[in-house]
Amino acid sequence: MGKIILTGDRPTGNLHIGHYVGSIANRLKLQAEGNFDKFYIMIADTQALTDNADKVDKVRNNIIQVALDYLSAGIDPKKVNIFIQSQVPELAEMTMYFMNLVTVARLNRNPTVKEELKQRDFANTMPVGFMCYPISQASDILAFNANCVPVGEDQLPMLEQAREIVRSFHNAYGEDVLVMPEPLLPDNKSCARLVGTDGKLKMSKSAGNCIYLKDEPEVIKQKIMGAYTDPDHIKVSDPGKVEGNVVFAYLDAFATDESFAKYLPEYKNLDELKDHYRRGGLGDVKIKLFLNNVLQELLAPIRERRRVLEQNIDQIYEMLFENGRQASKVASETLARMKAAMGIDYSQFLKK
Ligand code: TRP
Repeated sequence: MGKIILTGDRPTGNLHIGHYVGSIANRLKLQAEGNFDKFYIMIADTQALTDNADKVDKVRNNIIQVALDYLSAGIDPKKVNIFIQSQVPELAEMTMYFMNLVTVARLNRNPTVKEELKQRDFANTMPVGFMCYPISQASDILAFNANCVPVGEDQLPMLEQAREIVRSFHNAYGEDVLVMPEPLLPDNKSCARLVGTDGKLKMSKSAGNCIYLKDEPEVIKQKIMGAYTDPDHIKVSDPGKVEGNVVFAYLDAFATDESFAKYLPEYKNLDELKDHYRRGGLGDVKIKLFLNNVLQELLAPIRERRRVLEQNIDQIYEMLFENGRQASKVASETLARMKAAMGIDYSQFLKK
């Protein structure tokens, strides 16, 4: 079997530039290389509902938003199957069987879930569905025989869980039913996690520290001009710190030597700019305006494509539904293989 790629996002908000460097850029590269038999991107609404049971409208509305973000960022629906998780009901059935192969103790040790629990204040109110989402995510991957799962580092524990389920399933019911998935991390580790404009650890909607792919030019500029830099860099002549400075973190992720040639030719590259900033004599406004040029160039075509796509929402939904039907067919084949291996394929008991 060739390469089968599967990845996904929870539809809980619009995608921002952190998603762009962390996952979208990598997907665009994989898409351009074309070295795959199948490429799925799942909009994981079922998973989003595991901690949003009371906010179904938020999840529902963000499905189309995330689809628009993908398509406007350049994901090509002719090459990639974008579908909605809940439209593949086989995933739920598969999850039921996998649940029997995973202990509660194992789920409690999942570092990503632990971290999320801390952030969400779920002391005694964690829904069972949330606790089990790593198992459901294993179904997402295994249903499609994915052997390549492009994810950020925070998703590695999910991949490890899926791999354990493959081993347990094969031990319990016989080999060669499921495909062992491998994670694929973005090449540029420094880009894997982009800080928020406030310099806090993560971009998140609730912190209001994100630059969204769909933001208007003035909004982008305003967010950049207000970004956290170095609080001790007061006068232009002061030496400045590059580490922890949001503008440099973003330039690390997005500025190329061509950006310098185009917008700031007095510097050859980012190293020269950083050296000057460290020495003193380089003001924040200058580096922010440069970053603004770089990000405006990246985001303008995305925003323009989005305007066109927004005129055809029905067509996008229809595409998602059709893709869901195709995905469901593949998942039902995997499920049939599983049930045969487990010996719960009762049609064998029919006399004729
Ligand atoms: N857990 C992923 C996230 O929060 C989303 C996701 C759901 C996913 N199913 C997946 C990612 C399967 C990769 C493969 O971003």
